[in-house]
Amino acid sequence: MATTVITGIGELTTNDDELGTLTDAALVLDGDRVAWVGSASDAPDADERVDVDGRAVLPGWVDSHSHLVFAGDRTSEFAARMDGKPYQAGGIAVTVGATRAATDEELAANLRAHLDEAAAQGTTCMETKTGYGLTVADELRSAKVAAEADEVTFLGAHLVPPGEDADSYVDLVCGEMLDAVAPHVGWCDVFCEHGAFDEAQSRRVLEAAKARGLGLRVHGNQLQQGPGVKLAVEVGAASVDHCTYLNESDVDALAGSDTVATLLPACDLSTRQPLPDARALLDAGATVALAANCNPGSSYTSSMAFCVTTAVLQMRMTIDEAIRAATLGGAKALRRNTGEGAVGVLREGARADVHVLNAPSTTWLAYRPGVPLTQAVWRKGNRVR
Ligand code: NIG
Repeated sequence: MATTVITGIGELTTNDDELGTLTDAALVLDGDRVAWVGSASDAPDADERVDVDGRAVLPGWVDSHSHLVFAGDRTSEFAARMDGKPYQAGGIAVTVGATRAATDEELAANLRAHLDEAAAQGTTCMETKTGYGLTVADELRSAKVAAEADEVTFLGAHLVPPGEDADSYVDLVCGEMLDAVAPHVGWCDVFCEHGAFDEAQSRRVLEAAKARGLGLRVHGNQLQQGPGVKLAVEVGAASVDHCTYLNESDVDALAGSDTVATLLPACDLSTRQPLPDARALLDAGATVALAANCNPGSSYTSSMAFCVTTAVLQMRMTIDEAIRAATLGGAKALRRNTGEGAVGVLREGARADVHVLNAPSTTWLAYRPGVPLTQAVWRKGNRVR
């Protein structure tokens, strides 16, 4: 297998507790793994040598929350929002209609285009969800299409299909739908929010998924205070995503748990919600992830850099906290932060997912907001940019 040494690294963010951040560094990729990390002067020879001339290098972004199995767009809904209309979960039904009408090939091509768009901006590990099908057949084909992504989440409990009875729909999700979809996914999610699923319905979905061996995640506290965060902690979910409206006991619950608080600032801006209180979460000791939440309704961006910039400039996260949340935090939310092939970290044995910035340090992600800084990207050892 071919080896590559990336050398001349001005600042190397490893996210490894022992290695820390290195200057004048190098790393060696061997196939799809990192084989060596250290000082440039000690770097071993390799088949290929790439000198990045003093630039900053970090692990590829780990985007742990997206909804990329969809068709159509919702430009007019977005424009109406910018004119003052509120975001409502009911808009999801528009994308459900377009998704049901699309062929598998169209859905797969749209997903591929968005994964490629993200990779070109440094995202090397991406989760995506079903949730715009909402019938057994459409959720099943959505799950099969989604297999292109690194992690696949079943979100049959995204919205009660218009005209259907909520509890009967939850029966379907917990029975026939999960039976069909579970073999194709690793995770199950539920939108626990007023206008979507209440606490009891959400708990039923999560327990049914857990009984089938799936990992759990929750959309919670997005549009108002609610039970989502505490439910996620109670059922041992890997993450609770959004966390826009938290009270003190939600923060305490997260801080005392292994559930990652995944913040989605691009979504809050696009839906004109307040930004989450990242400082309260971090100061209390909770693990925080940042994700882009790319979807056609509430957050139509794949830019993790935009999320990092926003987190630093507007959410009072430090650069290091924001970078860590967008790499290792996402990896923790997906439970992929340890062992062989770990993501969000650059150490021997980690996945060879590398992001080179056209900048001398990661500080430039906030210092030069909006400027595209991705210079080069390797995913699983392959140069994708
Ligand atoms: O995470 N909140 C629920 N689901 C998506 C939005 C989906 C949509 O509006 O189409 C989210 O923001």
